[in-house]
Amino acid sequence: MPGTCVIGLQWGDEAKGKLVDLLTAENDIVVRFLGGANAGHTVVTGGATYKLHHVPSGILNPGVVNIIAPGVVLNPPTILQEIDSLTARGVHVGGDNLMLSERMHVVFPWHLAEDRAMNDRPVDGESIGTTLRGIGPCYRDKVGRSHGIRLGDLYRADFPDKVRQVVEFKQRLLTGLGDQETLDAEAIIADYLRFAERLKPHVADTTSYLLDAVEQDRKVLYEGAQGALLDIDHGTFPFVTSSNASGVGVSAGSGVPPRWINKVIGVAKAYSTRVGGGPFPTEQDNEAGQRIRQLGNEYGTTTGRPRRCGWFDAVAVRYTTRLSGVSGVALMMLDVLSQLPEVKICTAYELDGQRISNFPCHADDLRRVTPIYEAIPGWQVDVTGVRKYEDLPQGAKDYVRRVGKLLGRPVEIVSVGPDRAQTMDVPAVD
Ligand code: GDP
Ligand code: IMO
Ligand code: MG
Repeated sequence: MPGTCVIGLQWGDEAKGKLVDLLTAENDIVVRFLGGANAGHTVVTGGATYKLHHVPSGILNPGVVNIIAPGVVLNPPTILQEIDSLTARGVHVGGDNLMLSERMHVVFPWHLAEDRAMNDRPVDGESIGTTLRGIGPCYRDKVGRSHGIRLGDLYRADFPDKVRQVVEFKQRLLTGLGDQETLDAEAIIADYLRFAERLKPHVADTTSYLLDAVEQDRKVLYEGAQGALLDIDHGTFPFVTSSNASGVGVSAGSGVPPRWINKVIGVAKAYSTRVGGGPFPTEQDNEAGQRIRQLGNEYGTTTGRPRRCGWFDAVAVRYTTRLSGVSGVALMMLDVLSQLPEVKICTAYELDGQRISNFPCHADDLRRVTPIYEAIPGWQVDVTGVRKYEDLPQGAKDYVRRVGKLLGRPVEIVSVGPDRAQTMDVPAVD
């Protein structure tokens, strides 16, 4: 059976892009199935760095078909800029290797304005701190149904009228929210018709294409975006994104039923980061956190915001490992911990005097937990040049095994730097 998924197990930015690029060589098709331009996936190869927001990370491998499936929300100017920038760098992007679902909902200027207006309003005493890419408002319109516009709609005769109707409603909404944005329906129609013309060679019925592909035994790699702790249903609500970012979202977003998906690789950093608001039990808002940020260059790929940093949280990641049906874990950024005299893993929480090992459902409980740590001596050896697991220092190997044991799933891949080459398989036993 031909379906492999790459799912982030934390709050995003686990280096999914690197892993997808690596695994693409063994696959025929790469599918993005959720989120939108809020994602920022980095691929480093041959000394060149590519930051991808919309285009799947398989695009750098010639001969692979990249699909953006119905579960994604598409920002046309962003994807066009990305296509132009890839083309200018000599990467082929055409109708043959990038397909966009006609079912996908489209982000419009009113979504960006709504995101801005709402983001200033705290939820549960704290701002969500979105990426301001219009993600929540666009998904809200999709679920609400009355104002959602899909990519296929841009090619239909009633598109201009639809925009005029939505603009009338959205203008009143934005004014009510105190936003200064003036929406010009005719300018939006003209812009989006131009975008539609340029995107036309890519637009397709990706659902039928994928169903044919899996029935013909072609190999499909599903590229997760965000991370399972940002999942709308199963994450740290309301400090989440607006789609299913854990493994349970693959079928709904791609249109491929579960029977065709047989392997889930969970991607986790060797520590934790979070960008935006919300509870983060192992956060180190201190020198240790600053050191991790500096060593890991932890600044947002999409927004440039400094990422909040902390120790590996085995309670949270055990939860998302199980939730996502992970068969094996890829542990990334192990090199970042290599300079620290001591590293810590959170193995349980204490809540209201009780020791717990389940991940609490309510953000408020998560804010109140006290992490219980296990300290592991640092190995303090530069591992960025190591290419074989056996050559890692014993302390680093002990850390990898301990993480696997706490998660209940083996760590199968270790990454020690951003480049494709800085990756190694982990043997089943030392
Ligand atoms: P994604 O959103 O999950 O694809 O991750 P991002 O691209 O937002 O963030 C991961 C960052 O870490 C990128 O800058 C990568 O180039 C970089 N990276 C990936 N793997 C490693 C690694 O093993 N070590 C280090 N130091 N950096 C890595
Ligand atoms: P990748 O795919 C990290 C976070 C935002 C915010 C919350 C909601 O690169 O891992 P949104 O704009 O989605 O409404 O923001 O989710 N967020 C991410 N954090 N990596 C991402 O994507 C993210 N996408 C959204 O910071 O806290
Ligand atoms: Mg990212």
